Amino acid sequence: MGGIKRIVLILTAVMLMLVVDAGAGKDRIYNNVSGERRNLLANGLGVTPPMGWNSWNHFGCNINESTIRETADAIISTGLAKLGYKYVNIDDCWAESTRDKQGNFVAKKSTFPSGIKALADYVHNKGLKLGIYTDSGSMTCSKKMPGSLGYEEQDAKTFASWGIDYLKYDNCYNEGIKPTVRYPIMTKALMNAGRPIFFSLCEWGDMHPALWASKVGNSWRTTNDIKDTWLSMMYIADMNEVYADYARPGGWNDPDMLEVGNGGMTNDEYIVHFSIWAISKAPLLIGCDVRDVSKETFNILTNREVIAVNQDRLGVQAKKVRMEGDLEVWAGPLSGYRVVVLLVNRGPATSLMTAHWDDIGLHPNTTVMARDLWLHKVLRERPVGNLSATVASHACKMFVLRPVS
Ligand SMILES: *[C@@H]1O[C@H](CO)[C@@H](O)[C@H](O)[C@H]1NC(C)=O
Ligand SMILES: *[C@@H]1O[C@H](CO)[C@@H](O)[C@H](O)[C@H]1NC(C)=O
Ligand SMILES: *[C@@H]1O[C@H](CO)[C@@H](O)[C@H](O)[C@H]1NC(C)=O
Ligand SMILES: *[C@@H]1O[C@H](CO)[C@@H](O)[C@H](O)[C@H]1NC(C)=O
Repeated sequence: MGGIKRIVLILTAVMLMLVVDAGAGKDRIYNNVSGERRNLLANGLGVTPPMGWNSWNHFGCNINESTIRETADAIISTGLAKLGYKYVNIDDCWAESTRDKQGNFVAKKSTFPSGIKALADYVHNKGLKLGIYTDSGSMTCSKKMPGSLGYEEQDAKTFASWGIDYLKYDNCYNEGIKPTVRYPIMTKALMNAGRPIFFSLCEWGDMHPALWASKVGNSWRTTNDIKDTWLSMMYIADMNEVYADYARPGGWNDPDMLEVGNGGMTNDEYIVHFSIWAISKAPLLIGCDVRDVSKETFNILTNREVIAVNQDRLGVQAKKVRMEGDLEVWAGPLSGYRVVVLLVNRGPATSLMTAHWDDIGLHPNTTVMARDLWLHKVLRERPVGNLSATVASHACKMFVLRPVS
Protein backbone atom coordinates (compact mmCIF):
# COMPACT_ATOMS: atom_id res chain seq x y z
CA MET A 1 0.00 0.00 0.00
CA GLY A 2 1.39 3.42 -1.01
CA GLY A 3 2.10 6.06 1.60
CA ILE A 4 -0.55 8.44 0.26
CA LYS A 5 -3.20 5.73 0.09
CA ARG A 6 -2.40 4.78 3.66
CA ILE A 7 -2.76 8.40 4.81
CA VAL A 8 -6.07 8.73 2.93
CA LEU A 9 -7.29 5.54 4.57
CA ILE A 10 -6.28 6.73 8.02
CA LEU A 11 -7.89 10.13 7.41
CA THR A 12 -11.08 8.46 6.22
CA ALA A 13 -11.14 6.29 9.31
CA VAL A 14 -10.62 9.30 11.57
CA MET A 15 -13.40 11.21 9.80
CA LEU A 16 -15.73 8.24 10.08
CA MET A 17 -15.03 8.07 13.80
CA LEU A 18 -15.74 11.79 14.11
CA VAL A 19 -19.02 11.43 12.18
CA VAL A 20 -20.12 8.49 14.33
CA ASP A 21 -19.20 10.44 17.44
CA ALA A 22 -21.08 13.57 16.31
CA GLY A 23 -24.09 11.38 15.60
CA ALA A 24 -23.95 10.01 19.12
CA GLY A 25 -23.77 13.55 20.51
CA LYS A 26 -26.76 14.60 18.47
CA ASP A 27 -28.71 11.62 19.74
CA ARG A 28 -28.03 12.65 23.29
CA ILE A 29 -29.07 16.21 22.68
CA TYR A 30 -32.04 15.70 20.39
CA ASN A 31 -33.41 12.49 21.73
CA ASN A 32 -37.14 12.60 22.33
CA VAL A 33 -39.74 10.04 23.28
CA SER A 34 -41.50 9.86 19.93
CA GLY A 35 -38.28 9.39 17.99
CA GLU A 36 -37.04 5.81 17.67
CA ARG A 37 -33.59 6.70 18.86
CA ARG A 38 -31.15 5.72 21.49
CA ASN A 39 -32.23 5.11 25.05
CA LEU A 40 -32.29 8.31 27.11
CA LEU A 41 -31.61 6.25 30.16
CA ALA A 42 -28.58 4.03 29.88
CA ASN A 43 -27.82 3.42 33.54
CA GLY A 44 -27.51 -0.37 33.35
CA LEU A 45 -29.90 -0.82 36.30
CA GLY A 46 -32.94 -3.05 36.66
CA VAL A 47 -31.57 -6.03 34.75
CA THR A 48 -33.97 -7.97 36.98
CA PRO A 49 -36.92 -6.34 38.80
CA PRO A 50 -35.83 -4.31 41.84
CA MET A 51 -36.41 -5.80 45.30
CA GLY A 52 -36.63 -3.99 48.59
CA TRP A 53 -38.96 -2.06 50.85
CA ASN A 54 -40.88 1.22 50.69
CA SER A 55 -42.32 3.22 53.58
CA TRP A 56 -45.64 4.32 52.06
CA ASN A 57 -48.08 1.38 52.24
CA HIS A 58 -47.59 0.89 55.96
CA PHE A 59 -46.41 4.23 57.35
CA GLY A 60 -47.71 6.91 54.96
CA CYS A 61 -46.34 10.25 56.14
CA ASN A 62 -45.55 8.92 59.60
CA ILE A 63 -41.84 8.28 59.02
CA ASN A 64 -38.57 9.32 60.62
CA GLU A 65 -34.92 8.37 60.45
CA SER A 66 -35.11 5.86 63.31
CA THR A 67 -37.89 3.95 61.56
CA ILE A 68 -35.84 3.84 58.35
CA ARG A 69 -32.68 2.75 60.18
CA GLU A 70 -34.52 0.07 62.16
CA THR A 71 -36.07 -1.16 58.91
CA ALA A 72 -32.62 -1.47 57.34
CA ASP A 73 -31.47 -3.38 60.44
CA ALA A 74 -34.47 -5.71 60.18
CA ILE A 75 -33.94 -6.35 56.46
CA ILE A 76 -30.50 -7.66 57.40
CA SER A 77 -31.38 -9.53 60.61
CA THR A 78 -34.40 -11.32 59.12
CA GLY A 79 -32.36 -12.52 56.14
CA LEU A 80 -34.46 -10.57 53.63
CA ALA A 81 -31.36 -8.84 52.25
CA LYS A 82 -29.74 -12.19 51.46
CA LEU A 83 -32.79 -13.09 49.39
CA GLY A 84 -32.34 -9.98 47.25
CA TYR A 85 -34.32 -7.27 49.07
CA LYS A 86 -31.77 -4.44 48.80
CA TYR A 87 -33.55 -1.13 48.34
CA VAL A 88 -34.72 0.79 51.41
CA ASN A 89 -37.01 3.38 49.88
CA ILE A 90 -38.25 6.50 51.64
CA ASP A 91 -41.54 7.69 50.16
CA ASP A 92 -43.32 11.06 50.57
CA CYS A 93 -42.90 13.46 53.52
CA TRP A 94 -39.14 13.35 54.17
CA ALA A 95 -38.40 17.04 53.41
CA GLU A 96 -39.18 20.49 54.78
CA SER A 97 -42.03 22.24 53.00
CA THR A 98 -39.69 24.88 51.58
CA ARG A 99 -36.32 24.75 49.87
CA ASP A 100 -33.29 26.58 51.27
CA LYS A 101 -32.06 29.95 49.91
CA GLN A 102 -30.12 28.18 47.14
CA GLY A 103 -33.22 26.24 46.17
CA ASN A 104 -32.02 22.92 47.62
CA PHE A 105 -34.22 20.30 49.22
CA VAL A 106 -33.82 20.21 53.01
CA ALA A 107 -34.49 17.05 55.00
CA LYS A 108 -37.23 17.62 57.57
CA LYS A 109 -35.44 18.66 60.76
CA SER A 110 -37.98 17.23 63.20
CA THR A 111 -37.97 13.73 61.66
CA PHE A 112 -34.68 13.40 59.75
CA PRO A 113 -32.34 15.55 61.91
CA SER A 114 -29.18 13.73 60.71
CA GLY A 115 -30.02 14.34 57.07
CA ILE A 116 -30.42 11.97 54.16
CA LYS A 117 -26.69 11.59 53.44
CA ALA A 118 -26.17 10.10 56.90
CA LEU A 119 -29.01 7.67 56.26
CA ALA A 120 -27.51 6.69 52.90
CA ASP A 121 -24.16 6.04 54.59
CA TYR A 122 -25.92 3.96 57.23
CA VAL A 123 -27.71 1.68 54.75
CA HIS A 124 -24.69 1.48 52.41
CA ASN A 125 -22.58 0.25 55.32
CA LYS A 126 -25.01 -2.64 55.60
CA GLY A 127 -24.72 -3.44 51.90
CA LEU A 128 -28.17 -1.99 51.19
CA LYS A 129 -29.29 0.81 48.88
CA LEU A 130 -31.27 3.95 49.65
CA GLY A 131 -34.24 5.15 47.62
CA ILE A 132 -35.99 8.49 47.79
CA TYR A 133 -39.14 10.13 46.48
CA THR A 134 -40.09 13.35 44.81
CA ASP A 135 -42.68 14.52 42.32
CA SER A 136 -42.72 15.75 38.73
CA GLY A 137 -45.01 18.64 39.72
CA SER A 138 -44.84 21.66 42.00
CA MET A 139 -45.61 19.69 45.20
CA THR A 140 -45.64 16.04 46.23
CA CYS A 141 -48.99 14.30 46.69
CA SER A 142 -48.99 14.88 50.48
CA LYS A 143 -48.58 18.64 49.83
CA LYS A 144 -46.03 18.52 52.65
CA MET A 145 -42.95 19.04 50.50
CA PRO A 146 -41.97 20.66 47.19
CA GLY A 147 -41.95 18.78 43.91
CA SER A 148 -39.08 18.85 41.43
CA LEU A 149 -40.72 20.53 38.46
CA GLY A 150 -38.22 23.18 37.34
CA TYR A 151 -35.59 21.84 39.77
CA GLU A 152 -34.80 18.56 38.04
CA GLU A 153 -31.06 19.14 37.47
CA GLN A 154 -30.52 20.55 40.94
CA ASP A 155 -32.46 17.81 42.70
CA ALA A 156 -30.82 15.02 40.72
CA LYS A 157 -27.42 16.42 41.72
CA THR A 158 -28.51 16.67 45.34
CA PHE A 159 -29.71 13.06 45.34
CA ALA A 160 -26.47 11.88 43.72
CA SER A 161 -24.40 13.82 46.27
CA TRP A 162 -26.31 12.17 49.10
CA GLY A 163 -25.67 8.71 47.64
CA ILE A 164 -29.24 7.95 46.55
CA ASP A 165 -29.68 4.76 44.50
CA TYR A 166 -33.36 4.82 43.51
CA LEU A 167 -35.84 7.59 42.74
CA LYS A 168 -39.61 7.22 42.77
CA TYR A 169 -41.04 10.13 40.79
CA ASP A 170 -44.73 10.90 41.40
CA ASN A 171 -47.30 12.75 39.28
CA CYS A 172 -49.20 15.18 41.56
CA TYR A 173 -49.64 18.95 40.97
CA ASN A 174 -48.18 18.63 37.49
CA GLU A 175 -49.67 21.89 36.16
CA GLY A 176 -51.24 20.06 33.24
CA ILE A 177 -47.91 19.38 31.55
CA LYS A 178 -47.85 15.99 29.85
CA PRO A 179 -45.84 13.23 31.53
CA THR A 180 -44.05 12.56 28.24
CA VAL A 181 -42.60 16.05 28.65
CA ARG A 182 -42.00 16.10 32.43
CA TYR A 183 -40.47 12.68 33.04
CA PRO A 184 -37.68 12.74 30.41
CA ILE A 185 -36.35 15.97 31.94
CA MET A 186 -35.61 14.07 35.14
CA THR A 187 -34.21 11.16 33.13
CA LYS A 188 -31.63 13.47 31.58
CA ALA A 189 -30.94 15.13 34.92
CA LEU A 190 -30.26 11.74 36.52
CA MET A 191 -27.98 10.75 33.64
CA ASN A 192 -26.01 13.97 34.23
CA ALA A 193 -25.87 13.56 38.01
CA GLY A 194 -22.86 11.26 38.04
CA ARG A 195 -24.38 8.32 39.89
CA PRO A 196 -26.49 5.45 38.57
CA ILE A 197 -29.95 5.96 40.08
CA PHE A 198 -32.79 3.52 39.37
CA PHE A 199 -35.59 5.66 37.91
CA SER A 200 -39.09 4.57 38.95
CA LEU A 201 -41.83 6.48 37.12
CA CYS A 202 -45.01 6.84 39.15
CA GLU A 203 -47.25 8.21 36.41
CA TRP A 204 -50.25 6.07 37.49
CA GLY A 205 -50.68 4.64 33.99
CA ASP A 206 -52.37 7.87 32.85
CA MET A 207 -50.75 8.00 29.42
CA HIS A 208 -49.97 4.28 29.06
CA PRO A 209 -46.30 4.68 30.03
CA ALA A 210 -45.54 1.10 28.97
CA LEU A 211 -45.79 2.44 25.41
CA TRP A 212 -43.12 5.11 25.83
CA ALA A 213 -41.28 4.81 29.14
CA SER A 214 -38.76 2.09 28.32
CA LYS A 215 -36.47 4.87 27.11
CA VAL A 216 -37.18 7.06 30.10
CA GLY A 217 -37.20 4.91 33.21
CA ASN A 218 -36.31 1.53 34.71
CA SER A 219 -39.93 0.92 35.76
CA TRP A 220 -43.26 2.62 35.25
CA ARG A 221 -46.47 2.37 37.23
CA THR A 222 -49.25 1.01 35.03
CA THR A 223 -52.06 1.68 37.52
CA ASN A 224 -53.41 3.84 40.31
CA ASP A 225 -52.39 3.18 43.91
CA ILE A 226 -52.96 -0.29 45.30
CA LYS A 227 -55.22 -0.69 48.35
CA ASP A 228 -54.88 -3.50 50.85
CA THR A 229 -57.93 -5.40 49.55
CA TRP A 230 -58.44 -8.43 47.31
CA LEU A 231 -60.54 -6.40 44.82
CA SER A 232 -58.01 -3.60 44.46
CA MET A 233 -55.09 -6.02 44.19
CA MET A 234 -56.75 -8.15 41.48
CA TYR A 235 -58.01 -5.08 39.60
CA ILE A 236 -54.46 -3.75 39.47
CA ALA A 237 -53.10 -7.15 38.44
CA ASP A 238 -55.57 -7.14 35.51
CA MET A 239 -54.61 -3.63 34.40
CA ASN A 240 -50.91 -4.41 34.56
CA GLU A 241 -51.27 -7.68 32.63
CA VAL A 242 -52.41 -5.84 29.50
CA TYR A 243 -48.92 -4.39 29.07
CA ALA A 244 -46.99 -7.65 29.50
CA ASP A 245 -45.30 -7.39 26.10
CA TYR A 246 -43.55 -4.16 27.11
CA ALA A 247 -41.64 -5.48 30.12
CA ARG A 248 -38.02 -6.44 29.62
CA PRO A 249 -34.67 -6.35 31.44
CA GLY A 250 -33.94 -2.71 32.26
CA GLY A 251 -37.59 -1.59 32.10
CA TRP A 252 -40.49 -3.14 34.02
CA ASN A 253 -44.22 -2.66 34.39
CA ASP A 254 -44.95 -1.62 37.98
CA PRO A 255 -48.36 -2.55 39.45
CA ASP A 256 -47.39 -0.77 42.72
CA MET A 257 -45.85 -1.94 45.95
CA LEU A 258 -46.73 -5.04 47.95
CA GLU A 259 -49.43 -5.04 50.63
CA VAL A 260 -48.42 -8.48 51.95
CA GLY A 261 -48.46 -8.32 55.75
CA ASN A 262 -50.56 -5.18 56.15
CA GLY A 263 -53.65 -7.10 57.29
CA GLY A 264 -56.33 -6.37 54.70
CA MET A 265 -56.28 -9.74 52.93
CA THR A 266 -56.26 -13.39 53.94
CA ASN A 267 -53.04 -15.37 53.86
CA ASP A 268 -54.15 -17.17 50.67
CA GLU A 269 -54.98 -13.83 49.05
CA TYR A 270 -51.53 -12.50 49.92
CA ILE A 271 -50.03 -15.63 48.36
CA VAL A 272 -51.95 -14.84 45.16
CA HIS A 273 -50.75 -11.21 45.39
CA PHE A 274 -47.10 -12.20 45.76
CA SER A 275 -47.33 -14.92 43.08
CA ILE A 276 -48.88 -12.61 40.48
CA TRP A 277 -46.33 -9.87 41.22
CA ALA A 278 -43.54 -12.43 40.88
CA ILE A 279 -44.65 -13.86 37.52
CA SER A 280 -45.44 -10.33 36.27
CA LYS A 281 -41.79 -9.39 36.83
CA ALA A 282 -43.05 -6.57 39.04
CA PRO A 283 -40.76 -4.74 41.45
CA LEU A 284 -40.96 -6.65 44.74
CA LEU A 285 -41.09 -3.77 47.20
CA ILE A 286 -42.31 -4.91 50.60
CA GLY A 287 -44.91 -2.53 52.03
CA CYS A 288 -45.33 -3.78 55.59
CA ASP A 289 -43.42 -3.10 58.81
CA VAL A 290 -40.52 -5.57 58.47
CA ARG A 291 -39.55 -4.98 62.11
CA ASP A 292 -42.70 -6.83 63.09
CA VAL A 293 -43.80 -9.55 60.66
CA SER A 294 -45.89 -12.62 61.37
CA LYS A 295 -44.58 -16.07 60.46
CA GLU A 296 -47.20 -16.30 57.68
CA THR A 297 -46.08 -13.00 56.13
CA PHE A 298 -42.45 -13.95 56.44
CA ASN A 299 -43.07 -17.30 54.70
CA ILE A 300 -44.61 -15.49 51.74
CA LEU A 301 -41.95 -12.81 51.35
CA THR A 302 -39.09 -15.29 51.68
CA ASN A 303 -40.27 -17.97 49.25
CA ARG A 304 -37.00 -18.40 47.35
CA GLU A 305 -38.54 -20.34 44.50
CA VAL A 306 -41.14 -17.65 43.83
CA ILE A 307 -38.50 -14.92 44.08
CA ALA A 308 -36.35 -16.88 41.59
CA VAL A 309 -39.23 -16.75 39.09
CA ASN A 310 -39.40 -12.97 39.51
CA GLN A 311 -35.64 -12.65 39.09
CA ASP A 312 -35.33 -15.12 36.19
CA ARG A 313 -32.84 -13.81 33.66
CA LEU A 314 -35.21 -14.18 30.71
CA GLY A 315 -37.25 -11.28 32.12
CA VAL A 316 -40.51 -12.11 30.34
CA GLN A 317 -43.76 -11.05 32.05
CA ALA A 318 -46.38 -13.80 32.31
CA LYS A 319 -49.89 -13.35 30.89
CA LYS A 320 -53.37 -14.68 31.39
CA VAL A 321 -53.58 -17.44 28.83
CA ARG A 322 -57.00 -18.87 29.65
CA MET A 323 -60.03 -17.61 31.57
CA GLU A 324 -63.15 -19.60 32.35
CA GLY A 325 -65.34 -17.39 34.48
CA ASP A 326 -63.52 -16.91 37.76
CA LEU A 327 -60.85 -19.48 36.96
CA GLU A 328 -57.71 -18.07 35.37
CA VAL A 329 -54.56 -19.68 34.04
CA TRP A 330 -51.55 -17.36 33.94
CA ALA A 331 -48.28 -18.50 32.36
CA GLY A 332 -44.98 -17.30 31.03
CA PRO A 333 -41.64 -18.59 29.80
CA LEU A 334 -38.58 -18.92 32.03
CA SER A 335 -34.95 -19.53 31.16
CA GLY A 336 -33.94 -23.12 30.36
CA TYR A 337 -37.16 -23.80 28.38
CA ARG A 338 -39.10 -23.90 31.63
CA VAL A 339 -42.61 -22.47 32.02
CA VAL A 340 -44.23 -20.94 35.08
CA VAL A 341 -47.95 -21.60 35.52
CA LEU A 342 -50.25 -19.93 38.03
CA LEU A 343 -53.79 -21.23 38.53
CA VAL A 344 -55.84 -18.46 40.17
CA ASN A 345 -59.32 -19.08 41.56
CA ARG A 346 -61.12 -15.73 41.85
CA GLY A 347 -64.48 -17.38 42.55
CA PRO A 348 -66.32 -18.31 45.76
CA ALA A 349 -65.88 -22.13 45.58
CA THR A 350 -63.02 -24.59 45.56
CA SER A 351 -62.57 -25.76 41.95
CA LEU A 352 -60.60 -28.18 39.84
CA MET A 353 -58.47 -26.22 37.39
CA THR A 354 -56.49 -27.37 34.36
CA ALA A 355 -53.62 -25.79 32.43
CA HIS A 356 -53.40 -27.12 28.87
CA TRP A 357 -49.99 -27.28 27.22
CA ASP A 358 -51.20 -25.59 24.03
CA ASP A 359 -52.25 -22.57 26.14
CA ILE A 360 -48.94 -22.23 27.92
CA GLY A 361 -46.49 -22.62 25.05
CA LEU A 362 -45.59 -26.30 25.33
CA HIS A 363 -46.01 -28.94 22.63
CA PRO A 364 -48.95 -31.19 23.69
CA ASN A 365 -46.70 -34.29 23.73
CA THR A 366 -44.15 -32.78 26.08
CA THR A 367 -43.59 -34.61 29.36
CA VAL A 368 -42.64 -32.28 32.22
CA MET A 369 -41.44 -32.36 35.76
CA ALA A 370 -43.81 -30.11 37.69
CA ARG A 371 -42.70 -28.41 40.89
CA ASP A 372 -45.23 -26.81 43.22
CA LEU A 373 -43.53 -23.60 44.42
CA TRP A 374 -45.70 -23.13 47.50
CA LEU A 375 -45.57 -26.78 48.67
CA HIS A 376 -41.89 -26.99 47.65
CA LYS A 377 -42.49 -30.41 46.10
CA VAL A 378 -42.10 -32.05 42.71
CA LEU A 379 -45.31 -33.85 41.69
CA ARG A 380 -44.87 -37.61 41.67
CA GLU A 381 -46.51 -38.10 38.27
CA ARG A 382 -44.95 -36.45 35.22
CA PRO A 383 -47.77 -34.70 33.37
CA VAL A 384 -48.15 -34.76 29.58
CA GLY A 385 -50.50 -32.36 27.77
CA ASN A 386 -52.10 -30.78 30.82
CA LEU A 387 -51.87 -30.32 34.54
CA SER A 388 -54.86 -30.20 36.88
CA ALA A 389 -55.06 -29.08 40.48
CA THR A 390 -57.73 -28.30 43.03
CA VAL A 391 -57.63 -24.63 43.96
CA ALA A 392 -59.48 -23.07 46.90
CA SER A 393 -61.47 -19.84 46.64
CA HIS A 394 -59.25 -16.72 46.46
CA ALA A 395 -56.17 -18.92 46.31
CA CYS A 396 -53.70 -20.16 43.72
CA LYS A 397 -51.36 -22.99 42.75
CA MET A 398 -48.00 -22.15 41.26
CA PHE A 399 -45.86 -24.56 39.27
CA VAL A 400 -42.65 -24.48 37.33
CA LEU A 401 -42.71 -27.04 34.50
CA ARG A 402 -39.43 -28.42 33.24
CA PRO A 403 -39.65 -30.44 30.00
CA VAL A 404 -37.99 -33.84 30.33
CA SER A 405 -38.93 -35.41 26.97
C1 LIG B 1 -38.43 13.48 17.79
O1 LIG B 1 -37.64 12.60 17.01
C2 LIG B 1 -38.19 12.32 15.75
C3 LIG B 1 -37.31 11.27 15.05
O2 LIG B 1 -35.98 11.52 15.24
C4 LIG B 1 -38.31 13.63 14.95
O3 LIG B 1 -38.87 13.36 13.68
C5 LIG B 1 -39.20 14.59 15.72
O4 LIG B 1 -39.26 15.83 15.02
C6 LIG B 1 -38.67 14.83 17.11
N1 LIG B 1 -39.62 15.61 17.87
C7 LIG B 1 -39.27 16.63 18.63
C8 LIG B 1 -40.37 17.31 19.40
O5 LIG B 1 -38.11 16.99 18.76
C1 LIG C 1 -40.28 7.73 64.90
O1 LIG C 1 -41.61 7.33 64.68
C2 LIG C 1 -42.08 6.35 65.60
C3 LIG C 1 -43.51 5.95 65.24
O2 LIG C 1 -43.83 6.17 63.95
C4 LIG C 1 -42.01 6.85 66.99
O3 LIG C 1 -42.40 5.84 67.88
C5 LIG C 1 -40.60 7.30 67.30
O4 LIG C 1 -40.57 7.90 68.59
C6 LIG C 1 -40.11 8.29 66.29
N1 LIG C 1 -38.72 8.58 66.56
C7 LIG C 1 -38.21 9.79 66.49
C8 LIG C 1 -36.76 9.91 66.80
O5 LIG C 1 -38.88 10.74 66.16
C1 LIG D 1 -47.94 -37.13 19.93
O1 LIG D 1 -48.18 -38.35 20.61
C2 LIG D 1 -49.14 -39.16 19.95
C3 LIG D 1 -49.44 -40.35 20.86
O2 LIG D 1 -48.28 -40.89 21.42
C4 LIG D 1 -48.61 -39.57 18.57
O3 LIG D 1 -49.58 -40.34 17.90
C5 LIG D 1 -48.32 -38.30 17.78
O4 LIG D 1 -47.72 -38.62 16.55
C6 LIG D 1 -47.41 -37.37 18.53
N1 LIG D 1 -47.30 -36.12 17.81
C7 LIG D 1 -46.14 -35.52 17.60
C8 LIG D 1 -46.21 -34.26 16.80
O5 LIG D 1 -45.08 -35.95 18.00
C1 LIG E 1 -55.19 -34.31 30.36
O1 LIG E 1 -54.38 -35.17 29.58
C2 LIG E 1 -54.69 -36.54 29.71
C3 LIG E 1 -53.68 -37.33 28.88
O2 LIG E 1 -52.40 -37.06 29.31
C4 LIG E 1 -56.11 -36.80 29.23
O3 LIG E 1 -56.44 -38.14 29.43
C5 LIG E 1 -57.05 -35.91 30.01
O4 LIG E 1 -58.36 -36.03 29.48
C6 LIG E 1 -56.64 -34.47 29.94
N1 LIG E 1 -57.44 -33.67 30.84
C7 LIG E 1 -58.11 -32.58 30.44
C8 LIG E 1 -58.92 -31.90 31.48
O5 LIG E 1 -58.03 -32.15 29.32
